[in-house]
Amino acid sequence: MSNPDDVETNPLAEALPRTRAADSCAVVLFGATGDLAHRKLVPALFQLARGGSLPAEYAIVGFARREWADQEFRAQYHPALGKHGGADFEEVWSRFAPRLVFAPGTFDDLASYTALKHTLEALDRTHGTAGNRVFYLAVSPEYFATIIARLGEAGLIYPRQQESPWSRVVIEKPIGRDLTSALELNREVSRTLDESQLYRIDHYLGKETVQNILALRFGNGIFEPIWNRRHVKAVQITVAEEVGMAGGRGGYYDTAGALRDMVQNHMMQLLALVAMEPPVDLSADAVRNEKVKVLEVLPRWRPEDVFRSVVRGQYAAGSLHGHEVPGYHEEKGVAPGSTTETYVAIRLELNNWRWAGVPFFLRTGKRLPKRASEIAIQFHKPPTALFEPQEGSLGGANELVLRIQPDEGASLRFEAKVPGSRRRLQAVRMDFRYGASFAIPTPEAYERLLLDVMLGDPTLFTRTDELASAWRFVTQILDAWRMPGAPAPASYPAGSFGPAAADHLIAADHTQWRRL
Ligand code: BG6
Repeated sequence: MSNPDDVETNPLAEALPRTRAADSCAVVLFGATGDLAHRKLVPALFQLARGGSLPAEYAIVGFARREWADQEFRAQYHPALGKHGGADFEEVWSRFAPRLVFAPGTFDDLASYTALKHTLEALDRTHGTAGNRVFYLAVSPEYFATIIARLGEAGLIYPRQQESPWSRVVIEKPIGRDLTSALELNREVSRTLDESQLYRIDHYLGKETVQNILALRFGNGIFEPIWNRRHVKAVQITVAEEVGMAGGRGGYYDTAGALRDMVQNHMMQLLALVAMEPPVDLSADAVRNEKVKVLEVLPRWRPEDVFRSVVRGQYAAGSLHGHEVPGYHEEKGVAPGSTTETYVAIRLELNNWRWAGVPFFLRTGKRLPKRASEIAIQFHKPPTALFEPQEGSLGGANELVLRIQPDEGASLRFEAKVPGSRRRLQAVRMDFRYGASFAIPTPEAYERLLLDVMLGDPTLFTRTDELASAWRFVTQILDAWRMPGAPAPASYPAGSFGPAAADHLIAADHTQWRRL
């Protein structure tokens, strides 16, 4: 049971919303024996318990196809959670463990859901979970529709407008494979669920640095007046990863590719937050209304526009930090001759009053030399050059870089006079670092998002119209790539910054990718 006193003293609790407590509830994890539950979800719930942020009464119900007793289920998590330790681990665990309950079942068997219903009703009596339910579908997306339908048939989803007790369903990408399948899935689940009961997770929105984009833009006076086409020359959004197909992900990834895996969701969200207008307030719909307006002005391209504006790449064998690493084709689970892209670079413009004519360059890739996600706002140079041009100077082109991860923070590059008798300028950097400025630890994205589901706050979750607009943009690229004559993925050696074609793409605008 959580101790309200913990909230006062635990720094993590201070980092999470505290204006009101979440209602007591049961969190049912479908796929409780899987990777996401093990690596992210249960550890996040444990951290929330440690910080005193979980509701006063709660239960975590693992639903999977095993015949486990509660004790066996708990035993799965004890060593994994203990690894990250903390002096108070055993004490927190002793409060947390009795709240872990296992419910065996198969996803398409209605009887399993009837049994689950009885288990949940019993927990309402024994654990005080008050009839409130979160169903977290940490399963392969092909099961989403079936599970949601069975939840409905078993009476586990409450009527749409019922406020209390409540039932909420959480799903995670990939939500569809293209616009048509995403809309179809939506149609299916909307037979059972109202939009307000469905929480689509994009874990990037749970990152503090991503939430800080709005804080920086709209919580300060100096940025917004210059955040437009008059002052901004270009925007670069990068999500670079070192990882390849670790953890047996090859099978999934080969059917997805970088465009579906990273661009449709995380990068479109970053773009929307950078480019949106100020919302009227910070309510869920006000924020999402503005984000969707950005996604709606994404370009509508013919195939030849796609070939001109988008580069896809695939990594070949190479070396990363001095170690030889295999090429994509050698990875486990990847189909022979696969043309799945592991890298994408895109040049796009947003056709609205704020941004018309400003190029946005997006790039993401696996097996790049460095893990680094950032957004760079590049400003125009001053209209005249008073100072001598100098190596190491920007020519006055200031740059604001929001570092999403790692080394979370933001920096502004500007020119300063080199001390001495000459009028020489050199680029210098003003830097903000989370670690140095705030003494509280940053909560994991899943902690924030799970808590928001329990609080019923959908601000950081993707709404149907956002999802559809992002898919519309991505689907036109997927369709063009399937056409005869479409350029094949360009090869890049693992450990490099992507294919040369991506450099040519950006060079056409007389600029280059930022060095990470
Ligand atoms: C996931 C993708 O959504 O995000 C992965 O499926 C990717 O391929 C991951 O590695 C990146 O997340 P993060 O939080 O490590 O940037």
